[in-house]
Amino acid sequence: MNITEEIQARVIDNLDYAFPAKPKPLSEPERAAYIARIEQLLKEKNAVLVAHYYTDPEIQALAEATGGCVSDSLEMARFGANHEADTLIVAGVKFMGETAKILTPNKTVLMPTLEATCSLDIGCPIEEFSAFCDEHPDRTVVVYANTSAAVKARADWVVTSSIALDIVDHLDANGEKILWGPDKHLGNYIQKQTGADMIMWQGACVVHDEFKTKALEDLKRVYPEAAILVHPESPAQVVEMADAVGSTSQLIKASQELPNETFIVATDRGIFYKMQQLSPEKHFIEAPTAGSGATCRSCAHCPWMAMNGLVAIAEALEHGGASHEIHVDPQLAERAMKPLQRMLNFKKNS
Ligand code: 13P
Ligand code: SF4
Repeated sequence: MNITEEIQARVIDNLDYAFPAKPKPLSEPERAAYIARIEQLLKEKNAVLVAHYYTDPEIQALAEATGGCVSDSLEMARFGANHEADTLIVAGVKFMGETAKILTPNKTVLMPTLEATCSLDIGCPIEEFSAFCDEHPDRTVVVYANTSAAVKARADWVVTSSIALDIVDHLDANGEKILWGPDKHLGNYIQKQTGADMIMWQGACVVHDEFKTKALEDLKRVYPEAAILVHPESPAQVVEMADAVGSTSQLIKASQELPNETFIVATDRGIFYKMQQLSPEKHFIEAPTAGSGATCRSCAHCPWMAMNGLVAIAEALEHGGASHEIHVDPQLAERAMKPLQRMLNFKKNS
């Protein structure tokens, strides 16, 4: 182990996930009142709701009903950047809000809570990651979007899971050697698919890291006709069992296109809302997070995505301020914009 590998191991081993409390459940009349209030506030503030597929179904439904967007992290970035609203309210996790702010510095970017983080972001602090990069100056630094603005600013490219394979393939064809961070499972999957020369930061997603092969094999025996859909943030042995591997939007597409009637889905269960909406006749089952070695810290639902509730959205729109508004240091944003823009341009040109 060299010095930065040791630092990495220390960072990853000592991570302490203090999982946040979920929003308090609302009664039906309360829900209806909050939805009506949010609809009114969106109009008053010329704001648009941009939600990730992992948020709770009622948040996704509200984004759709109000002309907002429900999508993967790449499309969230695009939608926010191209929309004419003065204010973006981003229901997701913090890196999604920061990405929106970096791409549209003149807009007000609000989030239901600024405490909705991501284990990949937490597990990749800028000082240690920067030291890792400094040790490998010959490598092109490619970072996943699930990182802080500072880590993005240190990178040559930012990618999301729906575009990572194409970009790494392109860099590999150019003869570039890659330093990848932070998700080790996604990095290993891309390395296997492209054959690129990659070294990895050792981060992991607390949700996808929990999927278990043994329990998945048992479930597959119960539903032998089911297709298995897996997000590549999952461990390699789980990915190997998949009929389709991909980003959230790619998995949704696979659920529509594959002929199977039943699907076992290894990603956050929030995605079932869109899958079921697009294929009402199909049957979707959560991949198991139980079994040997399981802690069920996540149980297939990102604890930070779960923080995006109606009360917090209404409060963010009504009051904004320090607990809701995203700010990114302008100099950092300028540097982070370059690798982000590279990703958006790459997709446009491909
Ligand atoms: P997507 O880029 O596929 O939306 O995934 C984001 C994410 O956080 C997955 O856990
Ligand atoms: Fe991060 Fe995992 Fe939550 Fe996605 S599901 S936001 S990678 S912790």
